[in-house]
Amino acid sequence: MALHNTKPKKPTLSLKSKLSTTLFFTVLFTVPTFLLLHAPVAPLCATLSGATGVADGWSGDLRAAEFSWNRLEFARGAGRRLPPPVKLRVAVFSRKWPVGPAPGGMERHARTLYGALARRGHMVHVFTSPLESVGKEVVKSTLEGSSGEGEPIIHCHEGEPGKWRYNKAWEQFEEENRTKPFDVVHTESVALPHWLAVKLPNLAVTWHGIALESVHSSIYQELIRPPSEPISPVFNHSLFGVIPKVIKEIKFFQNYQHHIAISDSCGEMLRDVYQIPNERVHVIVNGIDDSDFGVDLRLGTEFRTRIGVPGNARLVLGVAGRLVKDKGHPLLFEAFSMIKEKHSDVYLVVAGSGPWQQRYEELGHQVIVLGSMKPAELRAFYNAIDIFVNPTLRPQGLDLTLMEALMSGKPLMASRFPSIKGTLLVDDEFGFMFAPNVQSLATALEAAVAEGSNGMRRRGKACQTFAASMFTAGKMALAYERLFLCIKNETFCIYP
Ligand SMILES: *[C@@H]1O[C@H](CO)[C@@H](O)[C@H](O)[C@H]1NC(C)=O
Ligand SMILES: *[C@@H]1O[C@H](CO)[C@@H](O)[C@H](O)[C@H]1NC(C)=O
Ligand SMILES: *[C@@H]1O[C@H](CO)[C@@H](O)[C@H](O)[C@H]1NC(C)=O
Repeated sequence: MALHNTKPKKPTLSLKSKLSTTLFFTVLFTVPTFLLLHAPVAPLCATLSGATGVADGWSGDLRAAEFSWNRLEFARGAGRRLPPPVKLRVAVFSRKWPVGPAPGGMERHARTLYGALARRGHMVHVFTSPLESVGKEVVKSTLEGSSGEGEPIIHCHEGEPGKWRYNKAWEQFEEENRTKPFDVVHTESVALPHWLAVKLPNLAVTWHGIALESVHSSIYQELIRPPSEPISPVFNHSLFGVIPKVIKEIKFFQNYQHHIAISDSCGEMLRDVYQIPNERVHVIVNGIDDSDFGVDLRLGTEFRTRIGVPGNARLVLGVAGRLVKDKGHPLLFEAFSMIKEKHSDVYLVVAGSGPWQQRYEELGHQVIVLGSMKPAELRAFYNAIDIFVNPTLRPQGLDLTLMEALMSGKPLMASRFPSIKGTLLVDDEFGFMFAPNVQSLATALEAAVAEGSNGMRRRGKACQTFAASMFTAGKMALAYERLFLCIKNETFCIYP
């Protein structure tokens, strides 16, 4: 989340709440209109024409690129990846550095990106909190063993594992910068607060979700609350706090020089609502490691048999992740309960754990609940299903599972959020979208059932081609490299 607490001087309470209520309703009604008008147009066309690869390369001024940088052709000349024109010295602020088996999305992003940049010869220094849950020796060898050649150098500040202290990290950064100045500084969301960021003309920040996106989330979550269920005080608080949060962000985001959005729609919000000048907004979609996810028919068939999907299944749906309310499981549970009564040969495979696990288990033999899965098992899971369903009600950022499924050659069924619509489901071929309510999801499910697994296989081919051209970790790393080069020296912004 791209939020943090600056402590503004308190205005009188009544004035504040009046003001925020007015603003809430203003934005409530203007934001959707605005998104409707703006979201898909330009980037959609650009993405579509480039979806199959930009054969002749791309030339122009990268600061003016109004679409995902991922679609640019960075590998010039018969797929050869040229070495970077200069080796950069990069400083990174990240609240955590992943060591455990199941790191969160933001940490996975950091590890994938900086590993790739270091392998391209850049000197990457990561400033982070003490590493968690690993023996002291391992940590020590990670720290001392790296010379920065081919892998990032990790600087953990002192203190408790996982507890981020930006001022300690800043001291370490300043010391390292005195030895030899950094070409560019990168922060993962607000790891570096805005009052320090403002000192750095060579800074780029990646936003893994902004408050304006959570306005949608709040609306949708409130809309699916049954009348019999009282609103929880915590949710009610966040509902009323979301507009002040947006306003706060609009004010302090200006302090960061370059902004990287991880979806096209978030990039547009940063330009149009957050009012950050065009040349300071960049869209680089997160990439996933294509050695971890890909098409593997035999693996898929084996896994299907192992988990007990009958050979004559007409359609196999898959869902993965934490089984909690705000990931939309109440919707899928209801909608699939309806579908399974009508179609006895349609199956749902559930990979993940959480409060909704037991309810899914109670739905009978057409629902196969696998529990949480290791990343290596997920590869088999994606290959075993016909279509991936993600009913999330939290659109902040962009769920990596969606990209993983596309890369595995599977079409998507997902809530119609601007980020998903403008970046992933840019072509009807890639899957189905629904409004986040039971009826709309059930209609989408019916449409997929009517096409059956053969229809999904046809769509899946287009998905895989699209994903391979956009969402690989290599593509992401090259896009970041270009931006960092461009920050160091303007001549690199004009792409030959
Ligand atoms: C880093 O070093 C450069 C060169 O000495 C200096 O100009 C810059 O102000 C330093 N940055 C910070 C934040 O200390
Ligand atoms: C929700 O929060 C608002 C604003 O703080 C308050 O006026 C309202 O009474 C709360 N409603 C519930 C049901 O807690
Ligand atoms: C920027 O790069 C160009 C071409 O490599 C070089 O001639 C120029 O000196 C560089 N400028 C700075 C400020 O480093």
